[in-house]
Amino acid sequence: MEKMSGLIYEGGEKQIFAADDPSLVMIRYTDDTSAYKGFKKGVIPGKGKVNNMINSSIFMMLEENGIRTHFVRRLNERDSLNRRVEIIPVNIIVRNAAAGSLLQRLGLTEGAALACPVIEYCYKSDALSDPMINRTHVDALGLATKEELDFIEETSLRVNELLKAFFEKIGVLLIDFRMEFGRCDGGIVLADEISPDTCRLWDSRTGEKLDKDRFRRDLGDVENAYQEILRRMEQGGLIR
Ligand code: C5P
Repeated sequence: MEKMSGLIYEGGEKQIFAADDPSLVMIRYTDDTSAYKGFKKGVIPGKGKVNNMINSSIFMMLEENGIRTHFVRRLNERDSLNRRVEIIPVNIIVRNAAAGSLLQRLGLTEGAALACPVIEYCYKSDALSDPMINRTHVDALGLATKEELDFIEETSLRVNELLKAFFEKIGVLLIDFRMEFGRCDGGIVLADEISPDTCRLWDSRTGEKLDKDRFRRDLGDVENAYQEILRRMEQGGLIR
């Protein structure tokens, strides 16, 4: 059993603790929720447990399909053990249909099809509100090497395909999602989390939103939306 000690980091929704083994960290999923770069804050009761279950099951599925991740194992309802990584300060967003910030930027209607997946990079910086950047910015700022970015891009598209198929099994469309990658043992691994906090997930029949947009846009029934994804995963035998 891993013994946990000091708090290393506290974000808007997660706490990260040191483990006895310095190569590991424990991530605790809280019910705290934030959006719009922390300007909107709230609590979604039970969200931490739901996200921990969803995220750990997804990371196990990805590992089984050859994606190297930081995930080690789920410890209990709220906590998971992960490898300690050096986070690359670039958020990767993959989009399968138009939503969110893409709408205003490109004048698209919500749900409009995209002929191929779109990949976007954002510079992780609270002070600058995570501005969108391109590959030459990543290179020029020395955020990642060209080889690292090639690997990240290829892995992101593969994760997108795996996740689309995964959610399709439970009648859910993966509209878009965000990922982070980190350096670990001389390689690059998928880090952070994948959950209704970081994905747009729509019911494939009704288009109902089952993700954080319910919180962002005050659509109500936020707790139920997260529970619904977990319930469908349980029914589909996708929770480990
Ligand atoms: O807001 P935007 O349309 O750019 O978000 C794209 C995707 O990235 C959405 O699935 C959103 O939930 C996710 N995202 C995130 N964390 C952020 C920004 C966006 O998980 N800080």
